[in-house]
Amino acid sequence: MSIKIHTLAGYIHEYEKSVLQPEQFWSRIAETFHWRQLWQEVVRWNFDEPSVEWFVGGKLNITENILERHLYTLGDRPAIIWEPNDPAETALTITYRELYHRVNEFANAMKAQGIGKGDRVIIYMPMTPEAAIAMLACARIGAIHSVVFAGFSATALADRINDCQARLVLTADENYRGAKVIPVKAVVDEALTKCTSVEKVIVLQRTGGPVNMQDNRDIWWHDAIAGQPDTCEAEEMDAEDMLFILYTSGSTGKPKGVVHTCGGYMVYTQFSFENVFQYRQGDVYWCTADVGWITGHSYIVYGPLLAGATTLMFEGVPTWPDAGRFWDIVDKHRVNQFYTAPTAIRALQAFGRQPLEGKDLSSLKVLGTVGEPINEEAWHWYHDHVGKGRCPIVDTWWQTETGGIMISPIAGITPTKPAYATLPLPGIQPVILDNDGHELKGNSVEGNLCIKFPWPSMLRTTYGDHERCRQTYFSQFPGYYFTGDGVKRDEDGYYRILGRVDDVINVSGHRMGTAEVENAINEHPRVVESAVVGYPHEIKGQGIYAYVIADTTGRTEENLEEEIRATVANIIGPIAKPDKIQIVPGLPKTRSGKIMRRILRKIAEGITDDFGDISTLLDPEVVEKIIAGKK
Ligand code: WT7
Repeated sequence: MSIKIHTLAGYIHEYEKSVLQPEQFWSRIAETFHWRQLWQEVVRWNFDEPSVEWFVGGKLNITENILERHLYTLGDRPAIIWEPNDPAETALTITYRELYHRVNEFANAMKAQGIGKGDRVIIYMPMTPEAAIAMLACARIGAIHSVVFAGFSATALADRINDCQARLVLTADENYRGAKVIPVKAVVDEALTKCTSVEKVIVLQRTGGPVNMQDNRDIWWHDAIAGQPDTCEAEEMDAEDMLFILYTSGSTGKPKGVVHTCGGYMVYTQFSFENVFQYRQGDVYWCTADVGWITGHSYIVYGPLLAGATTLMFEGVPTWPDAGRFWDIVDKHRVNQFYTAPTAIRALQAFGRQPLEGKDLSSLKVLGTVGEPINEEAWHWYHDHVGKGRCPIVDTWWQTETGGIMISPIAGITPTKPAYATLPLPGIQPVILDNDGHELKGNSVEGNLCIKFPWPSMLRTTYGDHERCRQTYFSQFPGYYFTGDGVKRDEDGYYRILGRVDDVINVSGHRMGTAEVENAINEHPRVVESAVVGYPHEIKGQGIYAYVIADTTGRTEENLEEEIRATVANIIGPIAKPDKIQIVPGLPKTRSGKIMRRILRKIAEGITDDFGDISTLLDPEVVEKIIAGKK
């Protein structure tokens, strides 16, 4: 166990220590892990280059802290409980001892294919235990994994493979997702027509559906592990060696590879997991995210398994076979901590309380949310009808780049407040800056959320392009890490996240760059130009609204809209499909050619006046035309 906070006074005390003496604070936590060699310096940093190193000179392997560390004390405890897509299929339990052997066996299988330290491995897999085993097996041998959400298209997958020059891809024949079967191997095949770096593909047989196996390239998972020993010496890693790359969208068109390293990520994910969720040995913890997102990395796989917890993995979707599936699973596996996204809560809320009836949710102790601001109504529904008023809700604010939870209640210990992420965890120093970069001190202030001191699980770089990392996160407010979020600190000092202040939208808790969606729309041959904005959406939080200039000759607008949606699904994936498309005669641009998104956002929201000064527009009349054309 690292450091566990048990009282409000304890939180305040640890927080103060973490700010006054960060080195002592973090070394006390890091000392509870297994290091092959201790660090010489706790932290060395500057936010100008930026350069951030934690536990400098320390040597470790994160999987020794998950597997060997728990083998003798927790070997027979369940590490992973797996609930398959179809409730009629048997659930599986994998103990820590079994996990140890299966990770090592697969590590040996990858080694046999010539994969080793520093090689990049793409994981494009269903939510099966093998996805977690694959991640850990990479970490075991020092290979750098990059998990790509299996809903991304072949083009998006190819871009990621090419960016990191992966040598190996791990996938499945097909994925089950609710009533659908998704041919993921076929997507990999298509992606690989655009990639030259990939030498091998290992394919898990999940459905038994037909796949095309290419000679000398594709190997079945079961053949790859056949005859492999189930022990494998862990590779010694430097604290600052890369652990994984995870691609995420930003305000430019191309997703960037956020890089996390071994030592700091290990220390912070266990620390934050244990404290925020107040996990106790024997509890069953369930996070409903997909391993393709950072939440799945930090709070399905690494954080819980480092803590020796039992982590539940669910392959399916919340609404299949019916909208009671989540509650069936809580009931069936006696889940104690449940962590999901506001969008899922709102979607289930829409089905009313019937799906909750007859489900025994009395095992629940803690509820969590992540990914986007939670509205008060959804917060209360979750609190009253899922938690029956007994369970604190931890509204956890963090990002792919932060690696772990940054601002959040500590369950049952620090106060909660509907729609507020509340207070920073120990070790996290948020500040609010105005647009000129002045710090707004005291309470009742609102501005840009920045962090002024490093924390162990922060990103180190963006893969292959350090300058982009500097530009994106460290240049707008020199000397600070800029999150891209707006925030308010209320009269009591609690933080409320107000949403993105850049050209990023948050659709169902998934981050999307408006430029990225525009680029995809523009690929349609009839499209001349487009502008994408977010608008409030009842279930998704934000929906995607696309204004498109297009040549409609010989097409109905409806036809064209469908084609554009298909184009976006093809280039990014179904999650990026615009909810609304409006064909427009022009876009509101300044004389210098910049699109005034502010105006487009208002129109998408249904506001038809109060645009401020539009006299600087090249063609002010276009605004009227767009309003008139809105459906
Ligand atoms: C963005 C990060 C962190 C894992 C999932 C998303 C928004 C995240 C909250 C929250 C309000 C939130 C922010 C942030 N966000 N959690 N509790 N309250 N907003 O990871 O894709 O890296 O997106 O999600 O806008 O910047 P991500």
